[in-house]
Amino acid sequence: MTQPIILLAGAAGDLGTRVAKALVSRGAAVRALMRIDASDADKDRLATIGAEIADADVNDIGSVAAACAGASCVVSALNGLRDVVVDRQGVLLDAAVKAGVPRFISSDYSLDFTKTTPGGNRNLDLRREFMIRTNRAPIKVTSIFNGAFMDMLGAEMPIIRRRLRRVLYWGNADQPLDFTTKDNVAAYTAAAALDDATPRILRIAGDTVSARDIARVMSDITGRRYRTLRVGGTGSLGVLIRLVKLVAPQRHAVFPPWQGMQYMRDMFGGRGQLEPLDNERYPDLHWTSVSSQLRERSD
Ligand SMILES: NC(=O)c1ccc[n+]([C@@H]2O[C@H](COP(=O)([O-])OP(=O)(O)OC[C@H]3O[C@@H](n4cnc5c(N)ncnc54)[C@H](OP(=O)(O)O)[C@@H]3O)[C@@H](O)[C@H]2O)c1
Repeated sequence: MTQPIILLAGAAGDLGTRVAKALVSRGAAVRALMRIDASDADKDRLATIGAEIADADVNDIGSVAAACAGASCVVSALNGLRDVVVDRQGVLLDAAVKAGVPRFISSDYSLDFTKTTPGGNRNLDLRREFMIRTNRAPIKVTSIFNGAFMDMLGAEMPIIRRRLRRVLYWGNADQPLDFTTKDNVAAYTAAAALDDATPRILRIAGDTVSARDIARVMSDITGRRYRTLRVGGTGSLGVLIRLVKLVAPQRHAVFPPWQGMQYMRDMFGGRGQLEPLDNERYPDLHWTSVSSQLRERSD
C-alpha cells in the first residue's frame, strides 16, 4: 500500500507540531507547509520529526496547490484572526481543491460553535464564517470539536484558585464542561486525517467534568478541601466581558482576556457542549482524564 501524504498547515505551531508527530507515528508521509520566510529552527524541528518541508507563498493559491499535489488530506492547524482563519485558510482550501485533494480538516478544535449564538465569541465567529465557505467548496471537509484544551485548565483558564482552594464557576456548578489534552486532539486529528470516511463533524472529549467535579479532584490530589465559588451568572459574565473589552480592547490579539471570557461563557452556558461523542471511532487512542492531567501538574 502506498504511504498516504498529508499536507499540514500551521505545522510549526503548538498543536501543528503535535499533529505532525502523531501523523508520523501512524505511518503517514507528512508534508509541512511552511512560509518561505519560516525560520530554519522551525524547519529543522519539523524535519527532525520526519516531515518533508514544503516552502510556499502561503497567500498564493498556485504556490500552495503545488505543495498540495498528491496529498490525500490537507490538515489545517492555523491560528489567528480574520487574516489567517478566513483569508489564509481560504487560500489553503482553494489550493486543496485546485490540486484535487479529496479531504480537508479545518482548524476548529473548539467547543461546538454550530450550537452557540453568533456574535458572542469573536474567534468562533471567524470559524463559523469559514465553515460556511467550506460547506460550499467541492471537497470533503471535517471539523473536529474537542471543547477546551485540558492543558489550559488551571493555567490560561484560571478557574482553579490554589491559594484560596476554590474552583470558580459561573451559573451552575454542575454544568458539564468538555476538556481534551492537546496530545489527544493531535492523535485524533492524525487518525481522522488517515480515515477517508469521516463525517462533517467529529466531537471528542478526553473528559467531561463540572466545576464541582474539579473541586473534588483537587481535594483528592492535594488532601485539602476545595470548594466551588460562584462568581455570578453567565449574564453577569457578559457584563464583565463588555467592560474588559472597553478598558483593554486588544482587538489585534488572538487571545485577549475578554476572548478567554467569551469562551468561558460558552462553556458554562452549556450550549457548546459536545454530544454525541465520537471518542470510540479510533479505539487505539487513550484519553487523558482531568484527574490524571491535574495530578501530573501537581507532581
Ligand atoms: N480549544 C481550545 O482550548 C484551544 C486553545 C488554543 C488553540 N486552539 C485551536 O487550536 C488550533 C491551533 O492553535 P495553536 O495554539 O497550535 O496555534 P499557534 O501555535 O498559535 O499557531 C499555529 C500557526 O498559525 C499561524 N499563525 C499563528 N499566528 C499567526 C499570525 N498572527 N499571523 C499569521 N499566521 C499565524 C502560524 O503558521 P506559520 O508558522 O505557517 O506561519 C503558526 O505556526 C487553532 O484552531 C486554535 O484556535 C484551541
